[in-house]
Amino acid sequence: MDAVDSRRRLLLKATGASVAGCCALQAAPAAAQEAQGMVKGDLLVAAKGDDTKPIKAEDIKAGAKPVLVWPYDLKEKKPRSDSRLNKLLLLRLDPADMSDELKARAPGGVVAYSSICTHQACDVTEYVASEKLLMCFCHFSKFNPGDGSVAKGPAAKSLPYVPLEEKDGFLVVAGGFSNKPGV
Ligand code: FES
Repeated sequence: MDAVDSRRRLLLKATGASVAGCCALQAAPAAAQEAQGMVKGDLLVAAKGDDTKPIKAEDIKAGAKPVLVWPYDLKEKKPRSDSRLNKLLLLRLDPADMSDELKARAPGGVVAYSSICTHQACDVTEYVASEKLLMCFCHFSKFNPGDGSVAKGPAAKSLPYVPLEEKDGFLVVAGGFSNKPGV
């Protein structure tokens, strides 16, 4: 068992998660497909369950885990879930930690990044509040939520961000990915 495996098992033990759950995550399909068709003005809806209620900035709570969402195609009236690469994570940051440039793409302090880990394409689902870093549970890569850069490998590539704006109180996509999502 290497050092990474040992750390993973210790963390799984601490959190009560199962090794089977961990390995299922590890086996997440490689993100070979392209992100498809996300456009400026798309609303955002929860990626979990069937709730297609558009998300507001106030729905994203400070200090909470990232919320995984799909862009929502207003014309077709459905989430853009055909490509896993369209999946995003939302996280509320403390304005005190944000540059003016970051605030300009993060209404109410809510930032959006591709949720697909750039290491082996697991979903990035954790936020380590004590370190102020996003974390992927598969092999514990960590990312800075200010710019998506890698704080700790094995991932070597930044998480791409998506600029957001607020329209009629709802979060909407304001542009494309800052770089190609996926591994
Ligand atoms: S898939 Fe390996 S750290 Fe995320």
